[in-house]
Amino acid sequence: MSQDKARVGANAYGHFEEAAREYVITRPDTPTPWLNYIGEGRYGGIVSNTGGGFSFDRDPRNRRVSRYRYNAVPDDQPGRYVYLRDQETGEFWSPTVSPTWHRPDAYECRHGTAYTRIASSYRGIDAEMLYFVPLSPVDEPAPCELWVLKVRNTGKAPRRLRTFSYFEFSLYDAQNDATNLDWAQHIQYSEFGDGVIRVMTKFNPLVYFFGSSHKPTGYTCVREDFVGRGRDLSNPIVVESGSPADAPAPRGNSVGSLTHDIELAPGEERQLVYIAGCTVRPAEIDRVVKRFSSDAEVASAFDALRDDWTAYLGRFSVDTPDADTNAMLNFWNQVQCRTTLYWSRFVSGYETGMGRGMGTRDSGQDTLGTMHTVPDHARRMLTQIWEMQFADGHTHHQFFPLTGEGGPGLAGEFPRWPQWFSDDHLWLILSVCAYLRETGDFGYLEQKVKYVDHAEETVWEHMLRAVDFTLDNLGPHGLPRAGFSDWNDTMNVDHGSGKAESVWTAMQFCRAMLDLRDLSAKLDRPAEAGRFEGIHAAMARAINEHAWDGAWYKRAFDDDGQPLGVSGAEHQAIDLIPQSWSVLGEVAPPERAALAMASADEKLNTRFGLALMWPPYDGADERIRGTSTYVPGAKENGGIFCHANTWSVAAAAMLGDGETAYRYYRQILPLARTDSDVYKAEPYTYCQNICGPTHPSFGLGRNAWLTGTAAWTYVAATQWILGIRPTYEGLRVAPAMPSGWQGFKAHREFRGTAYEIAVRREGPGNVVSLVVDGRPVDGDVVPLPAPGTASVKVDVTIK
Ligand code: GLC
Repeated sequence: MSQDKARVGANAYGHFEEAAREYVITRPDTPTPWLNYIGEGRYGGIVSNTGGGFSFDRDPRNRRVSRYRYNAVPDDQPGRYVYLRDQETGEFWSPTVSPTWHRPDAYECRHGTAYTRIASSYRGIDAEMLYFVPLSPVDEPAPCELWVLKVRNTGKAPRRLRTFSYFEFSLYDAQNDATNLDWAQHIQYSEFGDGVIRVMTKFNPLVYFFGSSHKPTGYTCVREDFVGRGRDLSNPIVVESGSPADAPAPRGNSVGSLTHDIELAPGEERQLVYIAGCTVRPAEIDRVVKRFSSDAEVASAFDALRDDWTAYLGRFSVDTPDADTNAMLNFWNQVQCRTTLYWSRFVSGYETGMGRGMGTRDSGQDTLGTMHTVPDHARRMLTQIWEMQFADGHTHHQFFPLTGEGGPGLAGEFPRWPQWFSDDHLWLILSVCAYLRETGDFGYLEQKVKYVDHAEETVWEHMLRAVDFTLDNLGPHGLPRAGFSDWNDTMNVDHGSGKAESVWTAMQFCRAMLDLRDLSAKLDRPAEAGRFEGIHAAMARAINEHAWDGAWYKRAFDDDGQPLGVSGAEHQAIDLIPQSWSVLGEVAPPERAALAMASADEKLNTRFGLALMWPPYDGADERIRGTSTYVPGAKENGGIFCHANTWSVAAAAMLGDGETAYRYYRQILPLARTDSDVYKAEPYTYCQNICGPTHPSFGLGRNAWLTGTAAWTYVAATQWILGIRPTYEGLRVAPAMPSGWQGFKAHREFRGTAYEIAVRREGPGNVVSLVVDGRPVDGDVVPLPAPGTASVKVDVTIK
C-alpha cells in the first residue's frame, strides 16, 4: 500500500531510512543541533548530530554528570568527544566533526532508538562513534553510558594514532555549578587509578567515573591543562602537543580525558570503548568498567537495547497510503512519546534541565501516548503525580524525580495570584480513564496513594477530590476559575478577584465528567454515573449560555469579569482551543460545533498549522500577562502551538471530517517539512511551537522533542483519524480518514491480543461494517475475545 519509502523525510540535511529505523543526517552543519536522547529515563542524556550534549542521572538539576553550555558560542558544546591525532604529522580531528570542525571527507550521523552513531572519514581513517546507555535494572548501583569508537585504516600504509577523550564533568548540582563558582570550584576534585578517572567531593557519596576498555597510556583531568590558555576545544594544547598532563584535578574543572595509542595496519580496524557513569558505591566501578571492556558484552548490551525498542515499537504499527505518516506513527512519534514520558519538559536543547522539573499537567498527558506500549510505566507515572495532590484536590504544578519535591512552578513568582492551575488535576482523570480503557486494570482504582498534606486514599478518591476542587472553585458564570493558568501557561488572567474563569477548563472538565460517567457505568455504579452526567450537563449549559460569542466560543473571563476571545477585540479575538474542546468535551450542539471549527479554520489556519489565537498582542498587557510578553506570532502569542493543533485534528475527526483532520495532521508533520532551512528544527520529532503568520520567521520550529504534541498527535492520528480506540467493551475501529485513502492496515496489541486490522473504503462516508475472524459484528467495537486469544483478524469496510 505504501509509496516508495526510500527517502521519507528527505531534506537538504538528511532523510529517514526505514529499513534501519534511523534518521540519517548527511551534513554536520544542520540549521540547529539535531538531537537524540540516550538512556531509559534514568541515567542518560542528550546527544547531537556532532556529538554535543550532556549526561545526568534521573534528575538533570540535582544529579548532573557532565556539562553543556546552553546558548553559547560556539554552540552545542561540550559533548562526548574523542580526538584522533596522527602521530606522524601531528594533525588531529574529531570523528564527530565537532569540536574540531575540520572538513571531513565523509560524514553521517544516524539517530536511532536511544542510540546515536556518528561516522566520518578523514585522510584515510574511517572513524565511528556509537553512544548508548546499556539497559539496567532500576537498582543498578553504577549506571553508565558507553561510547564505542571504531577506527579503521583505509589507506595503504600503516598509521599511528593517538586518541584523547573529552568529557567535562559538572558538579552534581547543576545550578550551583553554573552560578556559585566560589563554592563549586573548591569542592570537586578527581583521582586517577587503574586506568579510571574518578571525580568526587568530600561530602557527597556520589562518584563520577570515566574509564575505557583498554589501558590508557596517559590521562588529563584538569580542563585548563587540556585546553590551554587562549585556546578552545577546537585546538586544545594537549591534543596539539600530543602530550597528556598525567595529573589529577585537585580542584576546579574536572574532565575525563584518557589517552590511547593505536597502530593500524592497512585495512585494520580497532575498537575502543569509553565507559562513563556515576555511583554512590565506588566499589562497583571496577565491575562495570571490566564488564564493558569486553567487546562481546558491549555488543550484547546494544542488541538488548535494540530488542527492547523493537518490542516497544511492535505493539502498534500501521500501513497507510502516506509514507510520512507511517514513518511517524511506526517510529518517531512513538520514540518521542516514550521520551516525553521519561523527561516531561525537563531537559532538551531548549530546556536546560535546571529549572522546571517534571510537569504535572505535562506528564499526565504524556502517559496518553504510551498506554498501549508501556502501561506499567504510565501507571507509575500517574501514581507519582497523584502523590503531588493536596487534600483539597489540586496538585503541585511541578515535581523533581530524584527528590520528590513539588512546587507551583512559575506561579511561585507571583505570590498574590492563585498558586494552583485550573487544569493540572483534571488531566489525571483523563489519563487514569485512558489507562483503564487500555488495560482493564480496575484494581488500580483501589491503590492507596498519599497526598502532599493528607494520609493515603485510593486512586478513585483522589479522582473525586480532583472533581471537588474544580466544583469548589467556580466563578460568577459557574465556570472554573482560571487559576494561575489553565493549559495555556501564559494566560495569567486570574489575579485573585474570583471573577476570572477559563472557558477552556470548563470544557476539559466536561470531558473528564464524561470519562468518569463511563467509568462509573462500567463499574456498575449508576448513581455516580448519573451524578457525573448531571455535572457535565450543567457545565455544558453554563458554557453555552455565557461563553458562546456568535460564531465561536470565548476563551476566558478576566479578573474584572470581561471576556477574552470575542469578535472585534483588538487582541485575541479568537482562540483555537475552546473551539476544538467544545467538540472534545461534547459541549457544543452540532451547529455550534461546526461553526466554531469553521471559524477557527478561517481565522487561524496557515500552511504550517493553526495559530493558537489571533490577533496577537503587541506589547505587555497586564490583563493576561504571560502571553503578551512574547513578540507577535511567537509561542502562545499567536504562534502555531503544535500541541493545540492536535486537538483540532481529533475534534475534526470526531465530527467525522477526516479530510480536515488529515489536513491539520499533515500541516505539522515534521517529516513532511522538507524546508529545513526555514523549519530549522529536527524533522523527525514534533516541535512545541512554530512561529506564526505574523512573525518574521513564520514557519520556524522551536522547542523540539519535549512537548505534549507527541502524545496527543499520536492519540489524534491513531484513535481519531485511524479510529482505533480502546474502550471498556473492546477495541473500537471507527476511522475518519481522508477521502483519498482507499484504506489502511494496522497491527494493534490490546490486552494481550494482536489485532490485525484491514480497513477498506467502499463509499465516501464513515459508516463502519466489521467482520471479526470471518464473522460480521454489529457496531464498530470488536468485542473482547476469550482470554488468551493470540490474535484477531478484523476486516473493516467504510461506506
Ligand atoms: C508548555 C508547557 C505546558 C503548557 C504549554 C502551553 O508546553 O510545558 O505545560 O501547557 O506550554 O502553554
